[in-house]
Amino acid sequence: MNTPPADPSAHVPRLLAAARRRTDAVIVPLLERVGPAPARVLAYQWGLWDARGRPVQGGGTGGGKAVRAALVFACARATGRPGTDPLVPAAAAAVEMLHTLSLLHDDVMDGDELRRGRPAAWRVFGTEAVEDAVRALTPHAVGLLFDTLPEPAATATAAGPGHVPPPRDPETLRAPARATAVLGEALVRLTQGQALDLALECEPCPGVAATLRVHADKTGSLFACACALGAAPAAAADLSAFGEHLGLAFQIIDDVLGIWGDPAVTGKPAGADLSARKKSHPVAVALTPDPDRCDEDVPRRLLALYALPRPWTPSEREEAGRLLDRSGARAVSQAAARGHARAALTALDIACPPHEEAGHDLRALTAFVTGRLH
Ligand code: IPE
Ligand code: IPE
Ligand code: MG
Ligand code: MG
Repeated sequence: MNTPPADPSAHVPRLLAAARRRTDAVIVPLLERVGPAPARVLAYQWGLWDARGRPVQGGGTGGGKAVRAALVFACARATGRPGTDPLVPAAAAAVEMLHTLSLLHDDVMDGDELRRGRPAAWRVFGTEAVEDAVRALTPHAVGLLFDTLPEPAATATAAGPGHVPPPRDPETLRAPARATAVLGEALVRLTQGQALDLALECEPCPGVAATLRVHADKTGSLFACACALGAAPAAAADLSAFGEHLGLAFQIIDDVLGIWGDPAVTGKPAGADLSARKKSHPVAVALTPDPDRCDEDVPRRLLALYALPRPWTPSEREEAGRLLDRSGARAVSQAAARGHARAALTALDIACPPHEEAGHDLRALTAFVTGRLH
């Protein structure tokens, strides 16, 4: 039942907490199966254990917001998937795991030392251990959808050694196989997006469209996948479009927060994207001359700073910040994020008409994502 909440401000935190609990129920047992070294890295990044492998009481902030898992569950509820369908929590866990693995690697790529308010995993375990863990855990994340199948080994054990279990009925494989294909496609896009993100660091002025392509692949892909996997088949295409736009809005806002956000709130370093010469959305905007927005000196000087073949001095770092402020890019990026949030809601209206209550949680999650602007 999807009725409007009595207290709207507590609603999204409740959705996120419930998504986190249901996702934990899938990920915690996995820790027993993946081997001790990858388990330590995963449990640390997922906020279950501290750097020394001791359980973290109360979860803290270490585990992330679980937005993608919340989207899986909300899409399932909005489109009438039975609450008992084991593919729904498996999909939420698979999506959150791929996201968590992508962040482990992302912090190595970006050289970021703070994640979710704690030292990034590579600062704790070393780059090699983190890369090994990501390699070891990726197949487990993808395989979670097949873990929902009934155990064929039970028949084999019952019939004694040497018994060959009968082949599975292909019909039982169909839903997990389809879901795995959707997940695999998102993983390929995410990986390509991350590769292109790095490549853009070397492009002097790639333009806003190139940045948006990266954002769609590295972030839109997994949001779209979460929504498609949660939705009943008839609504999967519309909710996938909803997720793709929401992911774009989310990433643009993340870029804005990466420059102007408060590290105490984001749990990530402020200004790290700038120092790493990332072509984030506001930077791509600021590098593009537009006399209606700012003086032409701003993109010219920013381009010169970005082209310096050495790390910035503190005063150059400050100057880059000031140029971003003067460029007017913050407002342009915020407007772009709002535009994608609106496009997401248009797609959502097709799957869940606004006068019906079914899409209520998804609208609340959209408002939460857009609210990160402030
Ligand atoms: C961070 O995602 C990476 C981006 C795609 C911007 P989240 O902000 O959802 O990260 P956690 O899981 O809540 O830490
Ligand atoms: C991360 O992008 C997107 C991923 C697919 C991991 P960013 O590099 O911009 O995200 P943060 O700011 O480090 O979380
Ligand atoms: Mg990063
Ligand atoms: Mg990155």
